[in-house]
Amino acid sequence: MYLGIDLGTSSVKALLIDADQKILASTSSPLEVSRPHPGWSEQAPADWIAAADQAVAALAANKPAEMGAVRGIGLSGQMHGATLLDGSDEVLRPCILWNDTRSHAEAAALDADSRFGQVTGNIVFPGFTAPKLAWVRNNEPAVFDKVRRVLLPKDYLRLWLTGEHLSDMSDSAGTAWLDVAGRRWSADLLAATGLGERQMPKLVEGTDPAGVLRADLAQRLGLRPGIVVAGGAGDNAASACGMGTVGPGQAFVSLGTSGVLFAANASYLPSARSAVHTFCHALPDAWHQMGVILSAADSLAWLAGVTGRSAAELTAGLGERLNAPGRVTFLPYLAGERTPHNDAAIRGALIGLGHETGQEGLVRAVVEGVAFAFRDCLEALREAGTELARVTATGGGSRSRYWLRAIATALDAVVDVPAEGDFGAAFGAARLGLVAAESADPFAVCLAPEIEESIEPDRALSGAFEDAYLRYRALYPAIRTI
Ligand code: XUL
Repeated sequence: MYLGIDLGTSSVKALLIDADQKILASTSSPLEVSRPHPGWSEQAPADWIAAADQAVAALAANKPAEMGAVRGIGLSGQMHGATLLDGSDEVLRPCILWNDTRSHAEAAALDADSRFGQVTGNIVFPGFTAPKLAWVRNNEPAVFDKVRRVLLPKDYLRLWLTGEHLSDMSDSAGTAWLDVAGRRWSADLLAATGLGERQMPKLVEGTDPAGVLRADLAQRLGLRPGIVVAGGAGDNAASACGMGTVGPGQAFVSLGTSGVLFAANASYLPSARSAVHTFCHALPDAWHQMGVILSAADSLAWLAGVTGRSAAELTAGLGERLNAPGRVTFLPYLAGERTPHNDAAIRGALIGLGHETGQEGLVRAVVEGVAFAFRDCLEALREAGTELARVTATGGGSRSRYWLRAIATALDAVVDVPAEGDFGAAFGAARLGLVAAESADPFAVCLAPEIEESIEPDRALSGAFEDAYLRYRALYPAIRTI
């Protein structure tokens, strides 16, 4: 048995698999995000531990014998968060999360230093970890002076589980301090934010053993002491392990809170200026590229909140058949945007409203707007040299066939829908736990799921989608100045 723990933004999920990778049970425990000021997004690390504790304890109550037979644990987590610890590993302030944009000025200043682009292969986005530390240094100097360790969210869970300060390459690539080609910390980049390597965790590959479970915790959680905790991965690389997106030509589109168009690569292919992220994969000698949009399913969640209906009700109202895009265009920049604009200040828009616009028209606009945002990501990946002919769908929003048809048509790519099952980050993390515990070949373990349906682009609507995409693309430069 192997256990995957995914520290998401809205919940912690624990998932148990057997040696044949069959999912035996999963549980999750909710998390809140605190937004004390516009653009801020924070969580208390103690809440992650409480939620992880609860999720694992619930699995143990449900499957005591199986949990007692767990041989490896894998961790996955929301990326980029800055968890700041003092010399006694006490948390110094709430974690500043991946979708917090307060450090946009610091990010621009670091990005102007050409070493960041050269060494990390990425733009320094405000969501990344380094500019957050620069913000703390500028705005909370007393806190900054006490920082003895900077951990990513899932690595704080590892500290709780094992007592070790360790991180993996895929998650660390999102800090803006990693030499992404060399898979090591860059002393120069750390120094540019007033830090040194001694403040960073030691690095391992996601498939490597990275600590063992503490005896006291093992006893309380119904697990065996001393079991291996794998390096694990940032949630996108972990999802890729769950979906077998590990080799060249393999890609997925994720409709989660944020949206990701992810392509696996066998080598390091940076293209910083196109606002594509180029990170290490969780597997050794593998990298990946991804376009990231900040509000994917979150855009529909916003409309659900406004209309008082659930997201599922809203998409169910669209029916099964894809329509040509309507007159209303939605720009999903509710929290700013990463790919392709790298603009923390921009906000969303609904353009083209008329007396005739009803709820359904708004839902279609949101669904299409997110599909066009993925098309922007595809164009950015193209600029980075990666062509995609098919992608596997994942994330909560992928339950809407209408949405997937819109994405297939907007991308002009086949969207594969996995057969019933859970191939997300917690499953990928459990696979990494298996690989680390058994020294298994990760490429043999991280296989693609069975595909239930392949959604072809609706060629009869390709022209209408192309026209609507061009309108969509023209709107960002038009609204940016206002
Ligand atoms: C990736 C990113 C998000 C978070 C979501 O760069 O910021 O996908 O990892 O959890």
